[in-house]
Amino acid sequence: MKNYNMREMAFWFAFLASFFLINTGVNGQANNTGFVSIDCGLPGSSSYKDASSTLTYISDAKFIDTGTIHNISVEYMMTPTLSPQYLNVRSFDTGVRNCYTIKSVVAGGKYLMRATFMYGNYDGYSKDVIFDLHIGVNYWKTIKISDPENVTIAEVIFVAPVDYIQVCLVNTGLGTPFISSLDLRPMKSSLYPAANSSQALALSRRLNAGPTEGTIIRYPEDPHDRMWEPWSRVPNWTEITTTSHIQNFPDDLFEAPSAVMQTAATPVNSSEIQFYWDVNPIDKGLSYVHCQPALL
Ligand SMILES: *[C@@H]1O[C@H](CO)[C@@H](O)[C@H](O)[C@H]1NC(C)=O
Ligand SMILES: *[C@@H]1O[C@H](CO)[C@@H](O)[C@H](O)[C@H]1NC(C)=O
Ligand SMILES: *[C@@H]1O[C@H](CO)[C@@H](O)[C@H](O)[C@H]1NC(C)=O
Ligand SMILES: *[C@@H]1O[C@H](CO)[C@@H](O)[C@H](O)[C@H]1NC(C)=O
Ligand SMILES: *[C@@H]1O[C@H](CO)[C@@H](O)[C@H](O)[C@H]1NC(C)=O
Ligand SMILES: *[C@@H]1O[C@H](CO)[C@@H](O)[C@H](O)[C@H]1NC(C)=O
Repeated sequence: MKNYNMREMAFWFAFLASFFLINTGVNGQANNTGFVSIDCGLPGSSSYKDASSTLTYISDAKFIDTGTIHNISVEYMMTPTLSPQYLNVRSFDTGVRNCYTIKSVVAGGKYLMRATFMYGNYDGYSKDVIFDLHIGVNYWKTIKISDPENVTIAEVIFVAPVDYIQVCLVNTGLGTPFISSLDLRPMKSSLYPAANSSQALALSRRLNAGPTEGTIIRYPEDPHDRMWEPWSRVPNWTEITTTSHIQNFPDDLFEAPSAVMQTAATPVNSSEIQFYWDVNPIDKGLSYVHCQPALL
């Protein structure tokens, strides 16, 4: 693989929404061609249709031959909103480096890769775990698990140098690596121009300002299946919404979905809006913030 700078961090705030309003009443066309949705730890040849995303998740068995599969502990299965991807995991007791290989990738194509992790005390040890994720030979992110119920999401947008992708979990001596799911999504090459053949974009947060519901927006509302975390009830912010469909400009570089752009935040008693976030000190390199202004 080429010389990625995986440490460039991206901070994307879908905040202060979009461009102009068009009452088309047409929903963005969802097209999941080329999506690979893998539920790690799902037995053998199993698959299922995920009710909320409508996407079909398949077992990880044909992408890896190491590791063992486990269900999470029953007490953590009860959360009604828990996505089925988190009910089981694959873990890696042996070997420093265990890799998934996804084939039928187009060399030179742009992709979004997402890995998720929910511990759910699958091994009964109730232990904190820290391990590294690599994409090919390049460092991607350090995963730190301290809350068994917390879902940790790692995401990177990159240009594939060859016609397959390897995602590797690397044991750094701080516990047994495990994984809940892997999603590969083809991206239009024109989107996220900062991701190119010499550098990738690793996601820090992707926040949807002012939603009325506290749920993550993803496919089919976002045809690119990015995950947008709710960002609401911030002191001194007022949430504003529209029901109109919001159309992106034809040459928009990010194509934030209408569902995200329909909500926004404005300051209560001020003409400026302030926000801040913590930068993870191990993620060196350039930070990149994308905000979308609103005209609601
Ligand atoms: C879906 O996307 C693929 C690849 O981007 C494209 O070739 C195909 O025409 C699209 N299909 C529809 C129905 O838009
Ligand atoms: C996980 O749970 C399912 C159904 O709840 C069960 O069929 C399966 O055998 C369990 N798998 C393991 C590895 O315990
Ligand atoms: C999950 O972990 C993140 C990052 O460590 C933290 O900000 C968040 O509050 C945690 N969420 C829950 C529900 O514990
Ligand atoms: C990738 O983007 C960076 C920053 O915009 C630029 O410096 C670099 O030359 C680009 N690399 C390629 C291969 O286009
Ligand atoms: C909210 O605004 C008030 C007055 O405008 C200010 O004193 C307070 O610090 C603000 N709170 C936050 C959390 O920004
Ligand atoms: C906004 O200003 C009004 C009038 O000055 C005041 O009554 C109200 O408490 C302020 N709200 C906040 C959140 O600062």
